[in-house]
Formats: sequence, structure tokens, C-alpha cells
Amino acid sequence: WPQSARLAGGSLSVGGIDVADLVAEHGTPSFIVDESHFRARARLFVESFRSAFSAVGADVDVYYAGKSFLSVAVAKWADEEGLRIDTCTAGEMAVAERAGIAGENMGLHGNNKSEAEIVRAIRGSVGRIVADSLVEIEQIAQLAEAEGRTAASPVPVMVRVTTGIHAGGHEFISTAREDQKFGLSLAGGQALEGMELVLKFPQLRLLGAHAHIGSQIQDSTAFELNARKMLELRKSLEEKTGYVMPELDLGGGYGIAYVPEDQPIDVPSLAQSLAQTMAAVATELNTSVPRISIEPGRSIAGPTTVTLYTVGTIKNVTTDEGIVRTYVSVDGGMSDNIRPALYGAVYTARLANREGSEEAVLARIVGKHCESGDIVINDLALPADVQRGDIIAVAATGAYGRSMASNYNNLLKPPVIAVKDGASRVIVRRETEDDLLALDLG
Ligand code: LLP
Repeated sequence: WPQSARLAGGSLSVGGIDVADLVAEHGTPSFIVDESHFRARARLFVESFRSAFSAVGADVDVYYAGKSFLSVAVAKWADEEGLRIDTCTAGEMAVAERAGIAGENMGLHGNNKSEAEIVRAIRGSVGRIVADSLVEIEQIAQLAEAEGRTAASPVPVMVRVTTGIHAGGHEFISTAREDQKFGLSLAGGQALEGMELVLKFPQLRLLGAHAHIGSQIQDSTAFELNARKMLELRKSLEEKTGYVMPELDLGGGYGIAYVPEDQPIDVPSLAQSLAQTMAAVATELNTSVPRISIEPGRSIAGPTTVTLYTVGTIKNVTTDEGIVRTYVSVDGGMSDNIRPALYGAVYTARLANREGSEEAVLARIVGKHCESGDIVINDLALPADVQRGDIIAVAATGAYGRSMASNYNNLLKPPVIAVKDGASRVIVRRETEDDLLALDLG
């Protein structure tokens, strides 16, 4: 739940505003983001990593991963808290540009960047382009040259590496090679080849290597292993070419709590253990810890937001096992939160406008889409007197919710409302039928 969430007599408030008032003003479904919490999460990464790494003599840049949720307002919040913005499409760059983010404070990712995206990044003087393949390195070099970039004004490039560590949830595996689309293989030698290729082009500057190992990772060991491999790679390049890369990017992926059983990554402890591990490995390799960058998305945006829905139809169904399950339909669903259907993601929620009866029912929160897999929460204990018109608040929907929203069944995408100190502000407005129909040329 957001930091400012409070319960009084069973009714929930966020940012000092009762959800009933938020619903009266903004309607449902709506994403409610606690601005102070978002800023605090952003700051926590900057402060924890800077203090842990300054103890081992290294600087840190934190890039907010815009894919988790990007709007002009949140880009400004991140910027004001000292973060940079990680983008991976022209659309994400456009939002960051609109927010006034300086080019050097932006990064561009993507396994299949268009020529236009690369040119936009070069013209916008982005802080770095993360190259994802050997052909792309050649392409960036060629476009940099066409844009008049020379050894005196080189384009900063990082090489995305597949370190063989792939993590997510509790498990992680370390294999020689990875069967997935991102990056250049460390084990296969392409990573080193990619870096040497960048070094051949005077119009490019090899800033460093990048490795993102997965998302919603709840075990810090995987990050430590990854950091070790990256330092070893940097050393190999140094031994082979004499070039010492000034930076390593360790990616994002820091897990949060969706349900009480989850073990969220504790950011200050992770920063500490990573800094210590890297310092030890650097000593072992007779090198130093370079400048570090990280790209948290979910761990900043996720916990700060709730989705508010209004309850509609309620239906009791007896399962084959003879259990009575109460299907509680809400006015959104898989179009504003695809994660349960796509990943089997689990969430928690509560009745948000009143206490409700002490007696509980086993409820299933379902959406309004035309398919049975349109489930928000599979099993949730709700007060037995839950009724049409009640408000349900689903926690931790700030990351990959609005950003992965669709118009399935021509539902209108929900707004995002920022709350702070008793005031609310629409930062992304609700879609209208006119918005939908504007694209339909008949
Ligand atoms: N950096 C890179 C290069 C990434 O690919 C990602 C996420 C991140 C940073 C941010 O990761 P985070 O800190 O948010 O875990 N749609 C999925 C998550 C996909 C993540 C893709 N890459 C979900 O809803 O779980």
C-alpha cells in the first residue's frame, strides 16, 4: 500500500484524501499515485546506492525505467529527485522530452530500435544508447557519422550483455548461454566482440557494459553474481585491448511486495552488499569499481499506486468441490491490469469505502471483459456484505499496470491521479469515446 494510505473506520484514504471523495471527483477505474511515496522511493535508490558506492570510491547514476510507468509528471518527479530516465522507444523519449528531461539524462534501450529512434537519440544527445547487437553497433556508428559525430563529439554507447544469469521470483539460473532475444552473449564471446567493435569507431565512445537479469527478483545473490561477471568482463576487455570501461550498468529488476508472502528487496541492504561484493571482486581482479548505473522501474513505481474500482454484479457460484465462491465484478479488469492473465501475477485488495461485515466470503475479483480469464484477484477474503457500488482498492498497481493498459473491448484507459497533502491532480486524464473514435476513419 502507498506510504500515505490510512484506514479510518474501514474507509481508506491516500495522500490525505478519502477514496470515496477521489471516486466522487475522478470516477473509476482510476490509478491513484502517492506522489510523496514515488519521490521517496526514487530518492531511496539514489541515496542508498550513492552512499554504499561512495564508500568504495564509485559514483552512481539511477535511471528510472520508464516502461514501468511514464508520464510527464512522473518523469519530472524522477528528474527532480536526481534520477535519469531510461527509455526504450520513441514514444517514451517523447514523454521524457515533453517533461524537459535533458538529453544527457536520458538513455535509450531496445533490441530492435528503428533508425528514426537512433537518430532521435543522437540528435537529442542522450547520455547513452545501449546497443543490443553487433549489427546495431555498426548501424549506430554509421548514423553517428552521418550526423557529423567525430572523435571530438562521440556518441556514448553501452553494450548490452547476457551474463547467463536470469532471475525472477525466487529462482535464478546460471547457464552458459541464453535462449532469448536481448544482448550479446558473455559466454559465447559476442559481448567482448561487441565492445571491441565499438572501440573501432572514433565517432562512438564505449561508455560501458549493461546487464539486466530479470524482473521482480527477490534474492540479492543473483545481482551479486551478475556484478561479478560484469567486472570480470571489464577486466577481460582491459587485458585484451588496454581499454578500461568507465561504467557498468547493473539493470533493474528489484522485487516488491504484491502480497504479504513476497519478500521485497531491501534497497539499502542490496546497495551495501553489491558495493561490498564489487569492491572485493575488484581487489581480486586488481582493478577498481567503476561508475555504476542501475535502472529500477517496478521498485519505484509499483508500491506507490492503488487502482480503485466500483463493484458491479455479484454472483455466487458453487465450485465442483462444493465451495461457494463470490464473483465480484469490477468496472475494469484485464485492460488496466493484464498481469494476472499474462503472468499469473497475484495482488491484494480491500473494501475501501467502509468497514463491512466481520463475516467474510471467498471472493474472486473479475473484470468486465468478454473472457473468463479476466481475473484481477483469484482468491480474496471480502466482507460478506460486499455490495454493488462499493469501492475496491487493489494495491501495488503502479508498475506495468497503466503502462500495459489496452483498449480491449473498447474500454477507455483509466486516468492516473496524483495525490499529495490532501490534494489530487489528474496527471493522465481518462480516455474518452472521442479519443477512441478519433483513430477510426470510417
Ligand atoms: N532495464 C531494462 C533493460 C529492462 O528491460 C527492464 C525491464 C528494467 C530496466 C526495469 O525492470 P524493473 O525494475 O521494473 O523490474 N511487464 C513485466 C515486466 C517486464 C520488465 C521488462 N524489463 C511485468 O509486468 O512484470
